[in-house]
Amino acid sequence: MAEPLRIAIAGLGTVGGGLVELLERRRAAFEAALGRDIVIAGVCARDRNKDRGFDLGDVPWFDDPVALARADGIDLFVELIGGSDGIAKASVEAALGAGRDVVTANKALLARHGTALAKAAEGAGVALGYEAAVAGGIPVIKAMREALVGNEITRVYGILNGTCNFILTKMQDEGGAFEDVLREAQALGYAEADPTFDIGGHDAAHKLALLTSLAFGTEVAFDAIDMQGIEAITSADIQAADELGYRIKLLGVAQRTDHGIEQRVHPAMVRKHSEIAEVSGVTNAVAIHGDAVGDLLLVGPGAGAGATASAVAGDIIDVARGWRLPPFVKPAAKLKPIETAAAATRQAAFYIRLAVHDRPGVMAAIASGMAQENVSLESIVQRQSNDASASAPDTPKTTAVVLITHRTGEAAVMAAVRRIADAGDIMTAPAQLIRIEEL
Ligand code: HSE
Repeated sequence: MAEPLRIAIAGLGTVGGGLVELLERRRAAFEAALGRDIVIAGVCARDRNKDRGFDLGDVPWFDDPVALARADGIDLFVELIGGSDGIAKASVEAALGAGRDVVTANKALLARHGTALAKAAEGAGVALGYEAAVAGGIPVIKAMREALVGNEITRVYGILNGTCNFILTKMQDEGGAFEDVLREAQALGYAEADPTFDIGGHDAAHKLALLTSLAFGTEVAFDAIDMQGIEAITSADIQAADELGYRIKLLGVAQRTDHGIEQRVHPAMVRKHSEIAEVSGVTNAVAIHGDAVGDLLLVGPGAGAGATASAVAGDIIDVARGWRLPPFVKPAAKLKPIETAAAATRQAAFYIRLAVHDRPGVMAAIASGMAQENVSLESIVQRQSNDASASAPDTPKTTAVVLITHRTGEAAVMAAVRRIADAGDIMTAPAQLIRIEEL
């Protein structure tokens, strides 16, 4: 029997707890498959006295993750602390500096510092595993880094945040209020410590940054992502989308175009019965187009203790087998700076909901704003009037107007909406624009 793999775990929250439970439950199977044991040789978390529902026995406890990363007798450092900087970054750097393999679930850290950390790992000749950082239990990093390397990838997109998909699905199916559904997602352990990271699109953007690098051989470029969250999506939008034959999903999209690489995260309307529209609840999906393989769709649980621990355990087992691949397919020094396609080059059809005064001339002003920017409309519908105004003749009436454009320049649509807003007393609230994504 070979020497055991001695791992250190920093962070014993949802994922850390799930990992400890999985390693314990499957110990005999792992040992039989690998010919070596996996031993937890040290742990670290914020609060030593917290009841976590599992027993660590006499596993050495550390208060400082950096000290744990450098402790004698550790082969592999598992970072489950989270956060792009601070102790998570310091401890990963310390582990790599000490020549230890690293496995992390920390997408924020890699989205910000992925290229530098990959260089450090390669320089030290150690592994940097991050399967759990993208789409929870879906083995998408392994698929892109190993199984699909024979392909030229032209597009990768998906549903990359379970909390947002859970919220949008519940709003669709049960008409739940946004805040209530978010609380439910938090209670189930899906949401980030700060849920604005989920609903604001940051978490999906962190993951997209890693997928882009894997797909296109570019340096990880989180700051180049155009990002918009789901906070402004209302039940009126969900209902309108349904009537028009669409579902609203938070998508992350990275694609190569004639103008460079597009990286964007935003709510999008997708056709109701498409595969991506059917992905519901906390489930994630990643679609990849490769020139040889064609279209792939990987679907699975994107958050939660078991799914994420499964991905961390897979990386640990790879390390135990001796695998040491460049974290982003190519050696990090060969990753190219990203050439981002300017937003002005993007084309799509759009759903636009305008809250406007209900009075003569408003429709004409809307149509004129669109025409002046050369935006062609597929439909324009007045959806509702405020009933209260009917019984109170002095109250100004308001209404919602929903427009669907033909495929057109995104910049022109923005300019048209600005024109209508600037035209004077027409709109009563900011416009809602949602891209219609034909996938
Ligand atoms: N908060 C994340 C999500 C967890 O909701 O998908 C996994 O990154």
